[in-house]
Amino acid sequence: MLAGKRILLIIGGGIAAYKALETIRRLRERGAAVTPVLTPAAAEFVTPLSVGALAGEKVYTDLFDLTDEAEMGHIQLSRVADLVLVVPATADLMAKMAQGLAGDLASTLLLATDTPVMIAPAMNVRMWEHPATQRNLALLKGDGVAVIGPGEGDMACGEFGPGRLAEPLEIVVAVEAALSDGPLKGRRVLVTSGPTHEPIDPVRYIANRSSGAQGTAIAEALRDLGAEVVFVTGPAEVARPEGVEVIEVESALEMRAAVLGALPVDAGVFAAAVADWRVESASGSKIKKQAGRLPSLSFTENPDILAEVSGLAEDRPGLVVGFAAETDDVVAHATAKRARKGCDWIVANDVSPATGIMGGSENAVVLISDDGAEDWPRMGKREVARRLAARIAEALGAG
Ligand code: CTP
Repeated sequence: MLAGKRILLIIGGGIAAYKALETIRRLRERGAAVTPVLTPAAAEFVTPLSVGALAGEKVYTDLFDLTDEAEMGHIQLSRVADLVLVVPATADLMAKMAQGLAGDLASTLLLATDTPVMIAPAMNVRMWEHPATQRNLALLKGDGVAVIGPGEGDMACGEFGPGRLAEPLEIVVAVEAALSDGPLKGRRVLVTSGPTHEPIDPVRYIANRSSGAQGTAIAEALRDLGAEVVFVTGPAEVARPEGVEVIEVESALEMRAAVLGALPVDAGVFAAAVADWRVESASGSKIKKQAGRLPSLSFTENPDILAEVSGLAEDRPGLVVGFAAETDDVVAHATAKRARKGCDWIVANDVSPATGIMGGSENAVVLISDDGAEDWPRMGKREVARRLAARIAEALGAG
């Protein structure tokens, strides 16, 4: 995907600098050439030797290195790349970029370059939230700098919140998206989202607490990687994603019809909280209150859309991803659910009330596949979505 592309990788001086090493490996795996530049602070966290070994290229560190200048001047160095990538972008480096300072090699290159710039910020949560950093971020975005992350979650400094470096796979997939039409260009992906409403009568229904936030974020993340997204949503609270095909449904039966009608697709992500049951015979007219008589409802089972799509002989998507909302024994229940439903992956999360996940902005998931159960740290739903989208791109052979 990145064959023939050259990335100028500027490594900032933060604890997350070690992840730049994996980023280099993944960029090279995809055929990119990487020219690494270390800030003096970065060289305290990772050695130029390991960076150079992984990149297979000369590492640049010093603005005033006469040997370097004789080989390739810093202005030229800043221009040879298709993209300048900063991993991690520290608060200091962001401030220098925003102000146009050029006191060292990294900041000089960033000021001198005329190629697109992408930064992956990483820093302590207070530093990230500081008005100065947010001001700098806004300035950089205004200057056309692409920003990937940061993620939200437990941090090396022991605090929790936004500021964690995006995963190397996410960074690399974002690079691909920036340098091409996106790794999922030409792929059609279906996402179900939100709750379903199961009618009792024309004015009453049975529903659940799903906000649709996770499904919406997944649709957006897949769109950002270039996929053509069909988004089948129940009556969700959150705003509909832009730039995708939205199909609005109410009930599980309507969702099933919309999903089957959207096939074939390359991948299906079933994030909707579909009601397991519906009222057996919903009344066509409003049920009136009658003194002394309580209504009783009888239920019938809804079709399991995920299981049905997973079991299709023709038109089965190449990758089927289900979700499992559990309140206890998350991995055991979700593993059994994956086998029962026949999907390829299950994204399992703990929705017990104490977690605040259902309807909240964060998620802590376990990805269950043939490779076993992979615990993801607690993070924002958008980051879960970005990571999942990157994995989907990789699984479809596009990432
Ligand atoms: N799902 C679906 N159609 C249904 C029910 C669920 O497509 N009628 C999908 C959901 O979108 C999700 C997965 O199946 O991807 C798991 O749903 P969940 O409600 O957690 O599991 P259930 O099968 O309902 O099992 P249980 O209620 O026992 O937890």
